[in-house]
Amino acid sequence: MMRKIKISIISLLAIAFCSPLFSQENEITIDASKSLGEINPFVYGQFIEYMGRCIDGGIYEENSPLSDARGFRTDVLEKAKELAPTLLRFPGGTVIKTFHWEDGIGPKEQRKAKKNLIWGGINPYHFGTCEFIEYCRELNCEPVLVINISTGTPDEAANWVEYCNGTENTYYANLRRSHGYPEPFNVKYWALGNEEAAEPDAGRHQNPHKYVEDVWHFIKLMKLTDPSIKLIANGESGNKEWTKTALKGLDGAIDYISYHAYVGTNSPCPYSIFQKIQGQDTWMREFAEMVKATVPDTVQNWKKWYRFPHRTAPVKIALDEWGIWEQQEPPYGTTNTYEWRHGLATACFLNAILHNAEHIGMANWAQMVNILAPIMTNTQTSVKQTVFFPLKEYRIQSLKESVQAKAQSPIIEEGLQSINVSATIDRDKKQMTVNIVNINPQSLKTKLRFSGCKIGKLLKTTVMTATSLDAKNKLDTPDKNVVQTKYTNINKKIEEIKLQGESITICKFELSDI
Ligand code: AHR
Repeated sequence: MMRKIKISIISLLAIAFCSPLFSQENEITIDASKSLGEINPFVYGQFIEYMGRCIDGGIYEENSPLSDARGFRTDVLEKAKELAPTLLRFPGGTVIKTFHWEDGIGPKEQRKAKKNLIWGGINPYHFGTCEFIEYCRELNCEPVLVINISTGTPDEAANWVEYCNGTENTYYANLRRSHGYPEPFNVKYWALGNEEAAEPDAGRHQNPHKYVEDVWHFIKLMKLTDPSIKLIANGESGNKEWTKTALKGLDGAIDYISYHAYVGTNSPCPYSIFQKIQGQDTWMREFAEMVKATVPDTVQNWKKWYRFPHRTAPVKIALDEWGIWEQQEPPYGTTNTYEWRHGLATACFLNAILHNAEHIGMANWAQMVNILAPIMTNTQTSVKQTVFFPLKEYRIQSLKESVQAKAQSPIIEEGLQSINVSATIDRDKKQMTVNIVNINPQSLKTKLRFSGCKIGKLLKTTVMTATSLDAKNKLDTPDKNVVQTKYTNINKKIEEIKLQGESITICKFELSDI
């Protein structure tokens, strides 16, 4: 009798724990009725700077058998095209504090080679404004130019606008024409300095009121030169008060407020980078709330005498430098060799950007070649780093709008789930993509639940995996790619998916109705 009771208690417990009420089932839930905003195409940008071998020895190398007649490394250009940035920011970065654009125009032999006072080495400036614009045209992406407000003048910045965009019979428009470019470059996006509050970087604007006062002079002359340009003001990642003062002081005249976000690993905790990315997700939301609370969506009390139009849309965030910075090789620890763990982290960071789509107007991975980069070069060859692959696939596959996606999955360490997810939708095309990162070494069977839409067939999957979490692509084995990207046509309805361990999976669904 006693034995019988024992057995039934055990079976009851077994049934109870196996029932959905008790078992911790892995689950991804997507709610298409909860929009997280339109995704601005400019969130898939890149950044290049006169730093180390990003430009010289990276995208540009004169007299190399790998370069074309313009000095562009064709192997790098091919990879950059595949990376498909929508926007390219140039020429700094911190180096902007000593950059004078007129050093980088006209016949190359007459350009002024100068010491790179910020990062070391010499800048011959053979890759200057016109070469940058040609590079953007090759990549079919939008240029963003950063002006020097530290050692440059408002006049100098306005002349740069005129050189790029002038259409009349003026000295600077004619100068561009004389350099072989009859048509204006139409550079629409201009950044007002870079990290100007950072004193060690030769920034002169620790006091945000001084930033506002100085920058106004630049804005007036630049906007009077071309009233159609859009302006990006500096914000300070770690200093909301500095940012608020800049926002309030420049409201009406600026379209974007920037901040920069780099993450790395706290050794010996390999998952700490994922924790930091979760923190970034929250920070983006808080930063956006602060912007909204500081500057109203519509401009009030615009003074007529400014003689140029005010902004007509809410101020958006320009995350104009984001990426992964492990302290590795010079300069300043920025020659990074990325592991597959960093590839997974890149996808999680992209998920965070998509979660905040409503607020982010542009975002650039910093940088593109050799410095904290998806593409590495030496004089003989170039390779795609692990982070290249998620950057490329998200850019190609994400749809117009971000919608709410959540996961319930095993905890890796305190506060960190195995699964990180985002979802995008195109309501006209009736398609949805679900971007799933599984940082768990184990494969995970996961339920997929959808609401706010009628989900149709899973059309295809893209699965990115690597030989191990610390696998790297290296310049000394350029033909070996540790990352495998597998595209599979599925064409059937599913309710559950098996995610490979340490993988990124992009699922493309059709919607039968929304
Ligand atoms: O991307 C490297 C440097 O990091 C940039 O020059 C600067 O803006 C940032 O601090």
